[in-house]
Amino acid sequence: MDIVEIISKKQSGLELTDSEIGYVVAGYTEGVIPDYQMTAFLMAVYFKGMNDRESTTLTICMRDSGQVLNHERILGYKIDKHSTGGVGDKTTLILGPMAAALGIKFSKMSGRGLGHTGGTIDKLESIPGFRVNLSEEEFYKQVNEIGLAVVAQSGNLAPADKKIYALRDVTSTVASIPLIASSIMSKKLAANDDEIILDVKVGSGAFMKDLDEAEKLARLMVKIGRNAGKKVMAILTNMEQPLGATVGNALEVVESIETLKGKGPADIEALCCSICAYMLMDAKGVKSLDEAYDMARATLHDGSALNKFREFVKAQGGNDEVVDKYSLFQPAQQRIAYKAQSEGYLEKVDALEIGLAAGALGAGRHKLGDDVDHAVGIVVYRKCGDYVKKGDVILEVFSNGVGEVQCFEHLNNAIIIGKERKFKNLILKVIR
Ligand code: URA
Repeated sequence: MDIVEIISKKQSGLELTDSEIGYVVAGYTEGVIPDYQMTAFLMAVYFKGMNDRESTTLTICMRDSGQVLNHERILGYKIDKHSTGGVGDKTTLILGPMAAALGIKFSKMSGRGLGHTGGTIDKLESIPGFRVNLSEEEFYKQVNEIGLAVVAQSGNLAPADKKIYALRDVTSTVASIPLIASSIMSKKLAANDDEIILDVKVGSGAFMKDLDEAEKLARLMVKIGRNAGKKVMAILTNMEQPLGATVGNALEVVESIETLKGKGPADIEALCCSICAYMLMDAKGVKSLDEAYDMARATLHDGSALNKFREFVKAQGGNDEVVDKYSLFQPAQQRIAYKAQSEGYLEKVDALEIGLAAGALGAGRHKLGDDVDHAVGIVVYRKCGDYVKKGDVILEVFSNGVGEVQCFEHLNNAIIIGKERKFKNLILKVIR
């Protein structure tokens, strides 16, 4: 096969065969196809797209470039929930214990934050002693025993995606629906759970800014997963403003614990209960969504999800006393209020700008391998649609003295106070 012919075929908008796609993925992963030819190939896909069959084949080839986990070793119905990334998204920390408390196996590989978005693994590492790397044996044993494990992604899962993603990142070929869908789904299929629930974020703080584009991406990922024999659903959710009331690693863990105690913000509780309700319908055969929602919500108010969280933290080597004693988290040196400069409705509490503000303080990383400061971040006291008076505290900055000027510049861009009461639903669409 000839890579130049494959590139020019795609440049002309023609459909590639399964063996041509397999040749490109294997050739690039093994180093036979150089970066400059792969860049030309990715650029051709970026402009000409791929149909559903080509996207599925690309995904399967990337999945098969490394290890596919043997989930037969976990007893029971296993569900993975994947978020396409946002600001203040601590859903996994709450949903995992809720699902496990209801007898669903929640085995998850999570990522670290990059750019303005946070990552579950960084959040978990703010718990003293918490281990995000378990051996395969430990991982399976823990999921079988307590129903829940969350670990950092193993190096051998979809290595083709790792290499291709790094190239896309530096060749401006990330924002392509078939390339994003195949990248995400190759890792989800390699993790090999029975069901995948995709939380596709939409809005300023998300990858997809626009609902139509997000829906195209969601539908393609659902189709790829189903073509590969998995049960898949997608839920499209609003990421115009941060989810919940905190952005920053330790702050988000504390907020998750509060939510597990039944005292969390309404939006984060509603999202976790909704996703958990779909899990209950699929894993436990609960017939009505309302009944399943109530069962899910009960775990946050009867202590069962909180107990699972304690077991989970302890099983992964963390200090479970953090649940009762938040002072065990590293504190930030100072707290600075951000106050309303006029009176009116909050028309915008922009997720992207708040994510960038938290990043400037050191909560996120600018490139892979950077250290994060677990203590810093932003608390969001008021959300879109709230009425504020001049001088009311809208946000609070938890800082260790780094990046405060940039942080406040971003916060000034984030907040718009006006005359209109604007409000968008949290759950925008469900694809099942
Ligand atoms: N996340 C991924 O894993 N891959 C993409 O291409 C985009 C987001």
